[in-house]
Amino acid sequence: MFQSASPFADYIDATFLTIVGISSLVLLGLLIAMVYFVIRYRRSKNPHPTNIEGNIPLEITWTVIPLVLFMGMFWMGWEGYRKISIIPEGAVPIKATARMWQWTFEYPNGVVMDTLYVPAYTPVKITIRSLDVNHSLYIPAFRIKKDAIPNKENLMWFKTSKIASYDVACAEYCGLRHSYMYTKVVSQDSTDFESWYKAASLKQSKVYQPILSKTQ
Ligand code: CUA
Repeated sequence: MFQSASPFADYIDATFLTIVGISSLVLLGLLIAMVYFVIRYRRSKNPHPTNIEGNIPLEITWTVIPLVLFMGMFWMGWEGYRKISIIPEGAVPIKATARMWQWTFEYPNGVVMDTLYVPAYTPVKITIRSLDVNHSLYIPAFRIKKDAIPNKENLMWFKTSKIASYDVACAEYCGLRHSYMYTKVVSQDSTDFESWYKAASLKQSKVYQPILSKTQ
């Protein structure tokens, strides 16, 4: 249904669809019950309302069923949050810096790019910061989003499962040219990534040291 390309995407989609599914069933059940009661107990059929004092089994039922549903949704959300938050050891470290109105991505040796090049099939850890106002690093296909906040570092990680490129957006309105902050994440196989990194290092006069040999 949606483009999905990270270790979290399928899990987050499943969680989202489960919650939408449960909510729709509850909505449908409530609507049917409401319409039934409106018709069944209309004034012509039931001119004198009955005062009902309470019903223990019913009250337990309508407490326990929602409790189980809500705790289930909470648990799914919590598991997803854990997957997103626990960063694997040895992930390739890249610094993302937001400013009005551009993302820049800095690699371990100081190479700076405005497109996020990453090695495929390898965990990548992004440290996110902002030089001015609040921004938000958003990669829809990976189902991840993290704010870039001045004077604070936030972390995100992902691993791509394909050689492909995906949209990156700023998801926090940050001024007139907020929409200029669209860019791409490009995942390459390890050989292409290393040769790209080597060329970029030479071009920006940085000392080239292979990134992947340390992590693989
Ligand atoms: Cu940066 Cu919106």
